[in-house]
Amino acid sequence: MLNGKVAVIYGAAGGIGSAVARAFADDGARVFLTGHHGAAVEAAAKDIVASGGFAKAAEVDALNEQAIDEHLRSVIDQVGRVDISFNALGLPDAKILGVPLVEVDAELFAVPWGYVKSYFLTARLAARRMVANKSGVIMTVTALHSRMGLPMVGGYGPAQAAKEALTRSFSAELAPHGIRVVGLRPQAMPETATIKRAYEPRAKTSGMTWEQWQAMLASRTHPRRLMTLAEMANVAVFMASDKASGMTGTTVNLTMGALDD
Ligand SMILES: NC(=O)c1ccc[n+]([C@@H]2O[C@H](COP(=O)([O-])OP(=O)(O)OC[C@H]3O[C@@H](n4cnc5c(N)ncnc54)[C@H](OP(=O)(O)O)[C@@H]3O)[C@@H](O)[C@H]2O)c1
Repeated sequence: MLNGKVAVIYGAAGGIGSAVARAFADDGARVFLTGHHGAAVEAAAKDIVASGGFAKAAEVDALNEQAIDEHLRSVIDQVGRVDISFNALGLPDAKILGVPLVEVDAELFAVPWGYVKSYFLTARLAARRMVANKSGVIMTVTALHSRMGLPMVGGYGPAQAAKEALTRSFSAELAPHGIRVVGLRPQAMPETATIKRAYEPRAKTSGMTWEQWQAMLASRTHPRRLMTLAEMANVAVFMASDKASGMTGTTVNLTMGALDD
């Protein structure tokens, strides 16, 4: 579905970023993986190349406007275009998780706003290139915290809600220029390190084991199971493709019924 497309992925060494990069490449895209630790993105790109895909890795801080811009310039220099921008950034949350809002330090509360800043920067810098081609897809990933009150996550929920608002705002401005802006809102995918990390602080208060916690989350979905990374990445491929030309200004609910639309 993505033959001939050029995709740039931010946070590409992470659980979601690497799965999406691989799925994009498997579907024919040339993928440019970026992350703030070069060795990790190099490894993810090598995996894709080893299975016959086109992948390049670069160290890019996705909170640094100049670094993002220079990287996009180098992508254009190499392959002439950028068709898909996917922001899969994940910020360190160890200090935030498990702290009630009434106690969280104001500076810590603001840390997840890095998500909004990074999405804003990567989206607008890609859009400036896409406008010339009158086509492109800007994408990101949020979480059900954007629409549901969940405890002990500080400013994470408000930041995810802001990203979804940004998707709508960018779409309103960019869709007239042929650029679609869409998001994915998955629930927890237990294969990812993030989810295990996020569980630890809550284990203390809930008294549940990792297996019990997964079962509890799964029981809230309609099929009584949690989504896999591959399922999420398949949806990302569709949304990035021209088959989804009718979709823009929306974040797709991938919670399998845990969250009503
Ligand atoms: N995993 C899930 O099931 C799930 C479900 C719903 C929503 N989400 C959300 O989806 C996003 C990604 O999740 P994930 O599980 O893929 O997280 P992850 O595995 O922690 O991946 C995030 C990646 O972002 C990189 N990164 C952090 N700061 C960066 C920066 N300034 N510049 C460039 N790269 C940077 C990290 O690099 P380092 O590790 O080297 O710092 C890491 O490779 C997060 O917002 C998460 O909350 C995840």
